[in-house]
Amino acid sequence: MEIIIEPDATALAERAGQVVFADLAKKPDLVLGLATGKTPIGLYEKLRARPDAFAQVRFFNLDEFFGVPPSDSNSFNYFLHFHLIRHIRHQEKNLHLLRGDVNDLEALSREVEEKIKSVGGIDLQILGIGKNGHIGFNEPGSSLGSRTRPKTLEASTLAEYMKNIDSRAPVSSFAITMGVGTIMDSRHLLMLASGSGKAEIIREMVEGPITSEIPATCLQLHPRATVILDEESAAKLKRRDYYKWVFENKWRVGQK
Ligand code: PGA
Repeated sequence: MEIIIEPDATALAERAGQVVFADLAKKPDLVLGLATGKTPIGLYEKLRARPDAFAQVRFFNLDEFFGVPPSDSNSFNYFLHFHLIRHIRHQEKNLHLLRGDVNDLEALSREVEEKIKSVGGIDLQILGIGKNGHIGFNEPGSSLGSRTRPKTLEASTLAEYMKNIDSRAPVSSFAITMGVGTIMDSRHLLMLASGSGKAEIIREMVEGPITSEIPATCLQLHPRATVILDEESAAKLKRRDYYKWVFENKWRVGQK
C-alpha cells in the first residue's frame, strides 16, 4: 500500500488526478471503476479539465441504491453523470453504470460480474471509505471474498448519506454493491480520504489488523493500492512521518 499525504483536500484532488491520468496514458481504453460520495468530487473536477482523455474509457461504478432510477437526483448514477460523465467525451456503449430500478438485484449482480470479466477486469478502481470502514457498500462483516450482490445498509451509513441530500425520506436501505473480492480483483486501487472524521478509520485501515469487521483493511493485501490522504485524515497514523519520507525519496530509486 502506498500512502501519499497531501496538505489539504485541494492538493489531494490534484494528486489523485495525476494518478488517474498516469494510468490513462498507459492505457487509453482503461476500465475505470468510479466511486460516489463527497470525497471524489474534487478529483472529478480535475478529470473534467481533460475531457478528450476519456473517449475510449470503459466505466463501471461501485454501488447503487435499490429502487432509485438514474433520473432520480439521489441515485449514484445521476451523481456520476452530474459530476463527471456529462462533462467528458465518452461513448454510451462504454458506460456500464449500475441502475437501481431493476426487479432482480441478484440477476443484475451476476450480469455485473460477467460484464467486468468480459472487458478483461477493472484496471483502476477509485474508492472512498466510510467511517465504519466500508468500501462500496460492503458494510462491516462483509466477507472479504464477496462478489457483487444486494446488501442491506447500516443505519449509520444511511444517516451519513441523508446528511448530503435534499430529500428527507430515506432513499433505500437496500443497495447493490461490488463485493470486496470484486474490488480486490482490480489491477490498481486508488483510495481517497479527507478530513478529521476519517482519521480513526484510516489508522485502522492502514495499521490495524486485517478483518472483515473493517472491510477496507483488505487493501493491505492488494499488490497495488494507492491511498491519498490529507493531513487531517492522516493525523492518527503512527508511521505518518515514515510514509512522507518514503514518498519524498522515491526519486532516489527511480520510481518518480
Ligand atoms: P464520503 O463517502 O466520500 O462522502 O465520505 C465515502 C464512503 O462512504 O465510501
